[in-house]
Amino acid sequence: MVFTVPNPNSVNLSQVRLEIRNLQSQLVAWRRKLHQKPELGFQERITADFIASKLREWQIDHQTNIAETGIVATIKGSKEGSNKVLAIRADMDALPIQEENEVPYRSQHDGKMHACGHDGHVAIALGTAYYLSQHQQAFTGTVKIIFQPAEEGPGGAKPMIEAGVLHNPDVDAIVGLHLWNNLPLGTVGVREGALMAAVECFRCTILGKGGHGAMPDQTIDSVLVASQIVNALQTIVARNLNPLDSAVVTVGELHAGTAHNIIADTARMSGTVRYFKPELENYFGNRIEAIVAGICQSHGAKYELDYWRLYPPTVNDSAIAELVRSVATQIVETPVGVVPECQTMGGEDMAFFLQQVPGCYFFLGAANPEKDLAYPHHHPRFDFDETALPMGVEIFVRCVEKFLDN
Ligand code: NI
Repeated sequence: MVFTVPNPNSVNLSQVRLEIRNLQSQLVAWRRKLHQKPELGFQERITADFIASKLREWQIDHQTNIAETGIVATIKGSKEGSNKVLAIRADMDALPIQEENEVPYRSQHDGKMHACGHDGHVAIALGTAYYLSQHQQAFTGTVKIIFQPAEEGPGGAKPMIEAGVLHNPDVDAIVGLHLWNNLPLGTVGVREGALMAAVECFRCTILGKGGHGAMPDQTIDSVLVASQIVNALQTIVARNLNPLDSAVVTVGELHAGTAHNIIADTARMSGTVRYFKPELENYFGNRIEAIVAGICQSHGAKYELDYWRLYPPTVNDSAIAELVRSVATQIVETPVGVVPECQTMGGEDMAFFLQQVPGCYFFLGAANPEKDLAYPHHHPRFDFDETALPMGVEIFVRCVEKFLDN
């Protein structure tokens, strides 16, 4: 993909942008410090201590230990005007991956890595908190900055909501971003409606009857039953679902058998389902159960099926998406700019916040192949162009000013 990185000297920088650009070295320092100390979901103690120490240093009101390691910072504007409340959400956790980047700031925690860019999300949220705390006269209302644990699982958004982070004062809208290596640096992906998919999971055990590989008539072959199920599950998307709706059914695991001449009595599989439309909530679980039950019955096999919902679809409110789009259009000055129809079948627990209050989750382009910073998310060599960090801060700051002023 051809794109141009915005040249800071080529545009007439406003005062806001100039001040935020001046935070660049600190944003990078914070991000790299966090990058060296990646922590998994609900274990983000070092991360939380670092965030809290910065908030204390800047004398920003905050609460710690929400849903284990979560933090909420509250900053009130002093400008006359509305009493509205805007929340900004940043996830904090890393992944169980061994980092393969040879960089001075590489992970110091064996087997753990910030391979999704959540270290950058925390740095952007901290930069936003710092900037707003220094410019309280520039906005009305209240900003809540939510530092959320465990996005990669088992999910920190829901327990934070249950702990009341969207109340006292009540949040009117929420914004959040993901640094995104599927988009080039200097772009923003934003759309109204579903940005990311629902994540549902299943686990299924086929209970057949084992026996001699040469005497299939005496057995119920769980391998054959399982393979028919794997095939038939693909018909849900291909033949049941409205072709104008998007969905994925993936069987990611299939285990059976011990030797070439033994018919396996059990087969185990697990998989994931993704879709965008909230009204399809019960659709896939029901179809999968019907297919598994029907095929097992026709072979005389039994089954055990677990099906559960991890995250709902991440659905943006049209007015808040428009706010982010209008703000991003002013900031992202490249030939690519704002990418309007950006969607992914990846999932996000930001979805739970968006079920409670109107809001917008968006992608901040962070890939830069010229600097070899274009590996996919969750890859052991994932890294992103840190030039994106001040862009994230500026989008949040301008959302604050614009949303709370109206
Ligand atoms: Ni992520």
